[in-house]
Amino acid sequence: MSKLIIVSNRLPVTVDKQEEDFVYQKSLGGLATGLKSYHEKADSLWIGWPGIVDNDLKEQDKENIREKLESEYGCLPVYFSAEEKENYYDGFCNNTLWPLFHYFANKVEFNTNTWEAYKQVNEKFFNMVDEVMEENDQVWVHDYQLMLLPRLIREKYPQARIGFFLHIPFPSNELFRLMIWREEILEGVLGSDLVGFHTFDYVRHFLSSTRRLLGLDNHLNTLHYGERNIRVDAFPMGIDYEKFNREYTDTEYLEEMKVIRDSKGEMKLILSVDRLDYTKGIPDRLKAFDAFLQLYPEYVGKVRFILIVAPSREKVDSYEKLKRDIEELVGNINGKYSTVNWVPVWFYFKPFSQKSLIAFYRNADVLLVTPLRDGMNLVAKEYAASRRDHEGMIVISETAGAASELGESIRVNPRDMAAIARGLYKALEIPREEKHVINQIIHQRLRRYSVDIWASDFLTSLQNLENTPAFKKGVVNIDQHEETLINEYQQANKSMILLDYDGTLVGFTSIPDQAKPDPSLKKLLSDLGNESQNTLAIVSGRDRQTLEKWLGDLPLHLVASHGLWVKKQGNDWKMTMVLEDQWKPAVNEVLQLYSDRMAGSFIEEKDYSVALHYRKCDPDLVGGKLSEIKDALLTMVQSMSLGVLEGNKVLEVKDVRVNKGMAVTNLMKEGSYDFILAAGDDTTDEDLFAALPSEAHTIKVGFGNTRAAYYVNDWKAMRSLLRKLEGSNGDAGDDK
Ligand code: UDP
Ligand code: G6P
Repeated sequence: MSKLIIVSNRLPVTVDKQEEDFVYQKSLGGLATGLKSYHEKADSLWIGWPGIVDNDLKEQDKENIREKLESEYGCLPVYFSAEEKENYYDGFCNNTLWPLFHYFANKVEFNTNTWEAYKQVNEKFFNMVDEVMEENDQVWVHDYQLMLLPRLIREKYPQARIGFFLHIPFPSNELFRLMIWREEILEGVLGSDLVGFHTFDYVRHFLSSTRRLLGLDNHLNTLHYGERNIRVDAFPMGIDYEKFNREYTDTEYLEEMKVIRDSKGEMKLILSVDRLDYTKGIPDRLKAFDAFLQLYPEYVGKVRFILIVAPSREKVDSYEKLKRDIEELVGNINGKYSTVNWVPVWFYFKPFSQKSLIAFYRNADVLLVTPLRDGMNLVAKEYAASRRDHEGMIVISETAGAASELGESIRVNPRDMAAIARGLYKALEIPREEKHVINQIIHQRLRRYSVDIWASDFLTSLQNLENTPAFKKGVVNIDQHEETLINEYQQANKSMILLDYDGTLVGFTSIPDQAKPDPSLKKLLSDLGNESQNTLAIVSGRDRQTLEKWLGDLPLHLVASHGLWVKKQGNDWKMTMVLEDQWKPAVNEVLQLYSDRMAGSFIEEKDYSVALHYRKCDPDLVGGKLSEIKDALLTMVQSMSLGVLEGNKVLEVKDVRVNKGMAVTNLMKEGSYDFILAAGDDTTDEDLFAALPSEAHTIKVGFGNTRAAYYVNDWKAMRSLLRKLEGSNGDAGDDK
């Protein structure tokens, strides 16, 4: 039977050594608290760090902890040494990724040692997954600490269903691109089949980074990456609504409620609950409370601010400093306003159980939640759900993920103290009926999209994803056909091999002249061309001078400018058609006009065509411009025999009578071939495929709609296939 494996850095239970005993406590933080209730019902296996370092543990202790975690909590521990904790957890996770993803660029530290530790610990998590993973298991990896893990799993288990969910914001590309190891991190996440975020903004930012940094286009939130489709979507995490909304009658809870209620008296309570974190905006919030007391003196003596801060990441310097800042601010406010029988801020620096929090939530008139950035913020949802009487009111910052789902609350800019003060006043003064209407809507939403629904929504989406890329239906990976292909090649008397050059035999470079053949490619082509049975032709859009310079000394035919020029092996170049080119200056002028305004683009003028290359341009800019350019060219090309062709990041205006199909048909006339192979990567190669007989082996290099019967992932795979073909004739070509 298949199982669900959850993997996160933090387990829902934290183990602590107190004297000689180990104490098991519930972990803090939205990921652990939120997912825990689903985990308990779903019977999943949760792999993670129990919060204790290796150095404090004997082998026997580790065994005992593992046994207890496994049997009582369905968890498996991954232990770190003190050094790993320092470099991976305090270092790369909390001093690099956390501040960067929360837009605190000034706090980000880049350090190669911590990056190395991050990679190492991700491997460590992989080893644990590998230990328990069985065929058909689903793996759900969580959060920024494990962004390399999906890829590690994918490499060993290509067929596995892997989901990844990020619990913190994904920043705009402007921020993300500051990350030194940005490509590795994106590629790590792209090991998954489904990537989830709390909001559509984060989805957008992620897609913009994968497009700008990895050049991946997306179609309806699906990325085409290598051989796979990866879906990217928003799944706003919910809470265990019932747990927070339920009525509790146990003595401990009733006692707690009474203490809070009695101490409250006639006072209005403003509450806030956070882990200690600079992203939560606690100092600004305190200043805003100060501003509130100044702006609305009628509330002096009548309102109390309960500030609950749960200790977190205390070994990270900025957290320690933050605690001191908060203490100082609390001291200042209390010093300024306190009277004999009134202290405005009650500050607790300790964790509370969620049950105790419910008691606080139910007595608080306003929840003040003003993070500067927050992936979601479950506290806000918990508070709303806990107020069974619909009497609560939330003041929330617009930069919290939860703000988009709590649109009926009072939204504020967390840096604008006056706005927060006004928001507080509004929340305290809001008419009862209005408050009830607002809460009714919020309750309904929270009840409907609970954490269980959130998790099953994500996992069902993961399960239902199509395994094979939808846009490649009917086109088969050449791997499945390789044996037949090689057999037919070996049996053949006369073989014709037709290969496009750029994107098919070499990768793309930002400057086309840099794509010249490396020695290994020249050797491969020379070996193939020297096989007596083979006729080899390079069929390219490049001009003849370049092909001559790069490949002129090899035993093959060259077809340049999409078929306008042909050079048979040992002969001179011949033009296949006489063309007029008076149209070129006019087209050039139009393209130049656009190119001037598209940084990174350039124009290439060929014998019979003019091309606008935009590989280096900002993809957003191109998206908007292309149809405009095509429109501008349309009237011009209609009156001549010209066509506008969209290639791989290039727009080309050319005489439509010239195409690769026409050139190849002429070449093929000269012999009778019992094996034909053709490979190409862009739209111009489709003419080539179309011109060949049905028994030809046509191969698309990369993804996209094609007439070809097969595909390979990229030019590297194409080269490796050709090498196998060449080697299959007994004379294995050495690639070096
Ligand atoms: N929490 C808790 N005890 C505390 C403070 C917080 O159990 O003393 C819980 C809180 O109920 C919530 C979680 O910790 O479920 C905090 O999640 P949130 O999404 O608000 O913020 P995060 O800590 O993930 O940044
Ligand atoms: C946030 C993160 C979680 C993390 C939690 C507590 O919610 O998204 O991944 O577990 O904070 O932080 P900690 O460092 O104690 O695990």
